[in-house]
Amino acid sequence: MAENIQNIQSEALAALASITDKNALQTWRTKYLGQKGIVRDLLNQIGGIPAEARKDYGQNVNNLKTLLTEAFEKHEQTIAQQALARDLEEGELDITLPGYPRQPGKLHPSTRTLRQLYEIWAEMGFQVFHSRDVEHDDYNFTRLNFPPDHPARDMQDTFYTTEKNIILRTHTSPGQIRAMEALGDGGSKPIRVILPGMCYRYEQITPRSEIQFHQLEGLAIGRNIRMSDLKGTIAEFARRMFGQHAQVRFRASYFPFTEPSMEVDVECFVCGGQGCRICKYSGWLEIAGSGMVHPNVLRNGGYDPTVWSGFAFGMGPERMTLLKYAIDDIRNFWANDLRFLEQF
Ligand code: DAH
Repeated sequence: MAENIQNIQSEALAALASITDKNALQTWRTKYLGQKGIVRDLLNQIGGIPAEARKDYGQNVNNLKTLLTEAFEKHEQTIAQQALARDLEEGELDITLPGYPRQPGKLHPSTRTLRQLYEIWAEMGFQVFHSRDVEHDDYNFTRLNFPPDHPARDMQDTFYTTEKNIILRTHTSPGQIRAMEALGDGGSKPIRVILPGMCYRYEQITPRSEIQFHQLEGLAIGRNIRMSDLKGTIAEFARRMFGQHAQVRFRASYFPFTEPSMEVDVECFVCGGQGCRICKYSGWLEIAGSGMVHPNVLRNGGYDPTVWSGFAFGMGPERMTLLKYAIDDIRNFWANDLRFLEQF
């Protein structure tokens, strides 16, 4: 029996050595190593081998299989090299033809804006603090001083999970409490952080609203932080982001977690304040919400509001990108359409 296997091996290797083209090579493979090939057949015969010889037999057939497989792969390479050499010699391969251009990978427009924001805020002394995407509604709302019946708590706006009170954060503001807990050392240390991240809202997807988007939150806590610090910081940010001559204005507004609260506008950088389609002919673009951290929020983060004060702001990187490039449909950001992404 071993002799038979030996014969098959010699015969197979001799046949292989004489093969010079791809088709013959495949025929050889089917004959010896295929589903219904000779090696398979030998393996199938194992039942008919006397019990005491079965182990040796099996081993021999397996060795044969390994040997033939390796020989095949080696010969396949040789043939491919020979074919290439032949093509080069006969001029079938024109190595002077230009190659296929490949697009190098690029960063997503939101990633680019975020990195620009990190850089600016880092230069201004703000550290990045990453807070969680999946939040407790206590952090997302209650500790941020949302009254119990505030409309933002509505099921319409929030993605709930199957776990009780666990939601996807609707804004990055809960990170304010998380940062105070993690960095405040029981309300005894100043803080200066930015909190970037994805937010989620259960909304109708339209050209102006998406169910997911980034926000970049800012938080500064110290002993003598005043509204003028907030205004100066935001104005400096706008100059670094939009150019030395960028003008900002603050409009009184309302957020539960800040008091007083303000909306920040920057003079429209598309038309220079003249009025255009992008700024809806107002000359101003809204870029952030902001305010002085509400005493209740300071308290909920472990700080004594009679000693400590702070400011906070929240901005939308997609919105900024949208304005910067005059993009009119926010759905472009997560549609994964290369025609859009390649433009950046
Ligand atoms: N969390 C607010 C929102 O999602 C944005 C915001 C407004 C954040 C004012 C702040 C702030 O930190 O001070 O609309």
